[in-house]
Amino acid sequence: MARIIEKKQLANKINLYVVEAPRIARNAQPGQFIVLRLTEQGERIPLTIADYDRERGAITLVVQEVGKSTAQMALMEPGDDILDLLGPLGTPIEIKKVGRVACVCGGLGAAPIYPKAKALKEAGNEIVTFLGAQTEAMLILRDELSAVSSEMYYATDDGSLGSKGFVTGPLQEYLAAGNQVDEVIAVGPVPMMRSVCNVTKEYGIPTIVSLNAVMVDGTGMCGGCRVTVGGETKFTCTDGPAFDGHLVDFDELSARQRFYRKAEQVSMQEHVCRIGLGGNE
Ligand code: FES
Repeated sequence: MARIIEKKQLANKINLYVVEAPRIARNAQPGQFIVLRLTEQGERIPLTIADYDRERGAITLVVQEVGKSTAQMALMEPGDDILDLLGPLGTPIEIKKVGRVACVCGGLGAAPIYPKAKALKEAGNEIVTFLGAQTEAMLILRDELSAVSSEMYYATDDGSLGSKGFVTGPLQEYLAAGNQVDEVIAVGPVPMMRSVCNVTKEYGIPTIVSLNAVMVDGTGMCGGCRVTVGGETKFTCTDGPAFDGHLVDFDELSARQRFYRKAEQVSMQEHVCRIGLGGNE
């Protein structure tokens, strides 16, 4: 059991939870994740560790309501217990001093990027953050990321803050203006990570992407998180979730995501029927 000790709404259908998990907080490293279950029969939800406080023995999770289990989690409040929490899982990213690191976040990608940006800054790097979302109100962890970044650039689909369009736009402008970037970390929807990689390839900048989105059980058993990286099959949950973005087979990754999205829609519909609202039982 792990108790929720704080909850904050970050944006529509996106909540931040601080959860008591002393052992995980003690061992967590940037880039790792946990898997939680809300009920005995419930599905296993992999979630990135968005922050950890070793002294307080607590970890931070950011959860977007996208399916049945995350909708159930949205109803939970401080004082409620999560049935079980497994972690930290995955391979931490390597934190070393390289110079200037551009952190490119799309939507919920800001949550996995934040602990990396913080650790890279502590290691002596300069952080420049590019934060994108649909609207200004959907930009999350803005203050936290600003606190570790020397420059912040925004992009929103509707132009409500920063450039209008994808976050790749301001990154491209930044590089075209001749700014030196030594490494890029990109986390967000697959099409966004793919286009960031296309841009950075042109400039020969090493780019790390985090593929959390394709995980199912998170423990190397289901094979659901298979990705092809540099022509080799890798498991996102044990070999990743961070990989060299220039080596990821994004076509295959997009196809797998479409498959899982369909399965999630079916799960939501079944859920409606089960509680007697669908009229099928
Ligand atoms: S999520 Fe199942 S093997 Fe990685």
